[in-house]
Amino acid sequence: MDIGLIRPYEVEYNNRDIEDLQNAISALGHKAKNIYVDNMGVRINKKGILLSQIISRDKMEPVNVDGAILRHLGFIKDFEQFGSRLWCVSAMEQKGMPVINPLSAWLCASDKLHSFIVLAKHGIPVPETVSTENMFIAYNAVKEYKEAVVKQLRGAMGFGVFRVNDADVAMHIFSYFTNLSKPIYVQKFLEKKGGGDFRIIVVGGQVIGGEFRKGEEWKSNIAQGAAPLPAKLNSELEELAVKTSHALGLEYAGIDIAETKDGYYVLEANPSISWQGFKIATKVNPAEHIVKHLISKIKE
Ligand SMILES: Nc1ncnc2c1ncn2[C@@H]1O[C@H](COP(=O)(O)OP(=O)(O)O)[C@@H](O)[C@H]1O
Ligand SMILES: [Mg+2]
Repeated sequence: MDIGLIRPYEVEYNNRDIEDLQNAISALGHKAKNIYVDNMGVRINKKGILLSQIISRDKMEPVNVDGAILRHLGFIKDFEQFGSRLWCVSAMEQKGMPVINPLSAWLCASDKLHSFIVLAKHGIPVPETVSTENMFIAYNAVKEYKEAVVKQLRGAMGFGVFRVNDADVAMHIFSYFTNLSKPIYVQKFLEKKGGGDFRIIVVGGQVIGGEFRKGEEWKSNIAQGAAPLPAKLNSELEELAVKTSHALGLEYAGIDIAETKDGYYVLEANPSISWQGFKIATKVNPAEHIVKHLISKIKE
């Protein structure tokens, strides 16, 4: 089978994870194909929908794989560019190529506001959160929470996530956000037991393992210097991770869960995770599980 790895050409994103996927695909006797979403062309004519990608100035190749893994759509600079990339992947799905994570689930889960709306609706515990374009609403949220965390709706790896306890200091930043037309996402700060959180990876509805990411400070992203440690999971944690992944319709996901004195809270569900730290902590290679799961979906 040919298995596509969808990502942008402009940035070779998460190379080692891509390498793990390529190795897992060939170890299972299949062929990995690079699909660069910014090099794709969609042609619509009497024959239907034709997908291709450019490989040199005068050479195109058809995009025709048995299934694909969606990793990243790149750093978006324009709203229509985002649409263009989304609909290229959507065209693959329309042509019957299974994509994991499915585009709509990927899109919803990679947005912190939308995913929390879905999780709250499913009764999954999440920290108190306010999301708004209005700086006064955000200001009042910081006042109410006293200790707050501010995030981007579609950020990752802890970049741009900051902590604030003075609503008037926050107001200066919120007014810049307003000038840039950026929504503001404010969350109540949680005191995490053990100074970190659990990252549990769920593939095809099954937990494949979990690590405890102990932060240097309050953030527990590996990219922010957190240490990936082995973790003992209990059934409550595992069930919460599976329930979260299922609520968001994810075929594979990294679920981040913090333990507090009031119990567990889901901080995030990541639909295109990086797993280099997880491999060290758990000795489990998620790439193998993800590829096997995609192959079973193709065979369905
Ligand atoms: N409400 C919170 N209270 C305490 N720490 C938090 C909270 N939200 C996030 N963090 C910490 O900040 C890190 C980054 O936040 P997260 O929501 O996961 O964004 P990102 O997508 O950038 O990883 C998390 O790993 C977590 O340790
Ligand atoms: Mg995170």
